[in-house]
Amino acid sequence: MAPDPAPAPEHVRIYEVGPRDGLQNEATPIATAAKLRYIELLAAAGLREIEATSFVSPKAIPQLADADELVPRLPPAPGVRYPVLVPNARGVDRAEAAGARALAVFTAATDAFTEHNIGMTVEESLEAAAPVLRRAGDLGWWRRGYVSTAFGCPYTGAVEPARAVAAALRLLDLGVEEICFGDTIGVGVPGQVTTLTAAAAAAGIPLDRIAFHFHDTRGTALANVAAGLAAGVRCFDAAAGGTGGCPYAPGAAGNLATEDLVYFLDASGWSHGVDLDGVLEAARFVTDALGKPLVTKVGQAGGWDPATGRATGRATGRAMTRATGFPVR
Ligand code: HMG
Ligand code: MG
Repeated sequence: MAPDPAPAPEHVRIYEVGPRDGLQNEATPIATAAKLRYIELLAAAGLREIEATSFVSPKAIPQLADADELVPRLPPAPGVRYPVLVPNARGVDRAEAAGARALAVFTAATDAFTEHNIGMTVEESLEAAAPVLRRAGDLGWWRRGYVSTAFGCPYTGAVEPARAVAAALRLLDLGVEEICFGDTIGVGVPGQVTTLTAAAAAAGIPLDRIAFHFHDTRGTALANVAAGLAAGVRCFDAAAGGTGGCPYAPGAAGNLATEDLVYFLDASGWSHGVDLDGVLEAARFVTDALGKPLVTKVGQAGGWDPATGRATGRATGRAMTRATGFPVR
């Protein structure tokens, strides 16, 4: 009798935040055309959820002030969702006019952070999110809700998981399809991921409606992904090139790098549909556009071919970036 076929690998969603979180903290202006090329490379790499930009105050986030011009020109890749971050009714009006079809709203586990970030308490931010989510629901958009500082706050320190879960439950009541718990300043460790996931599940939040957003400030992001996977969560945020941070969260460094996440998931046998070489090309492109070296682990080391023992993908980046036609600094 033939042996049973190996079970198909389980699918993990990689939610790319590079064009939004990755760029929002950058002081040097980046041309809209370069942002679009970055997004095109991400879609070509197989990413199917790409948070494209924010419709926030251009005074708060000058780098993303071109959202109204960028969204109508997003590459029409079949099956790709391009959520945009929206803080208020003005933002959803702009997003609708630009042709958005999915959005993310944001609150936090701590008032101190929302007050610095958007000038509101958590309660006020939820009041602001309510009409945004209602309108997006009427328009048939996909809706995500972030709960920032779920693992620690730059202004008040340690955060009880119950605070993050309470904010998540409010967002679910307001209609979001998915909750994303953010480790905004990258202080979380795997035990916290396990505890928070269990607390969310015990409060009735289905695991398939939970995502995690780990900043890799202290190098714990991949360990946190492993804990999230073990706890049953199947969606993780990442930014190609490991860019990112929030100007209103002192100490927030880059997001978990998409290339590091893809390598980890590939080598661990998860399916995700994203091509590592394609992500490395996007990572090289964006770090070149920012005039920075690519310092992520897999960005430097490349992937690895177990058949030959050799590194893969390393040499391709700079040459491919030049081939895109954008000037390389
Ligand atoms: P405010 O100053 O309190 O509000 O800002 P306001 O209503 O008085 O508006 C101030 C000005 O902004 C006015 O213009 C408004 O018209 C304008 P002025 O009269 O001074 O010329 N304005 C807008 N313009 C364009 N689009 C809009 C909009 N709204 C108001 N939507 C506000 C409140 C929320 C607007 C502001 O604080 C803001 O935009 N903050 C955004 C902060 C931000 O984007 N932070 C980063 C994203 S969150 C994050 O990174 C965390 C995450 O990654 C997860 C994690 O890591 O944990 C998601
Ligand atoms: Mg973030």
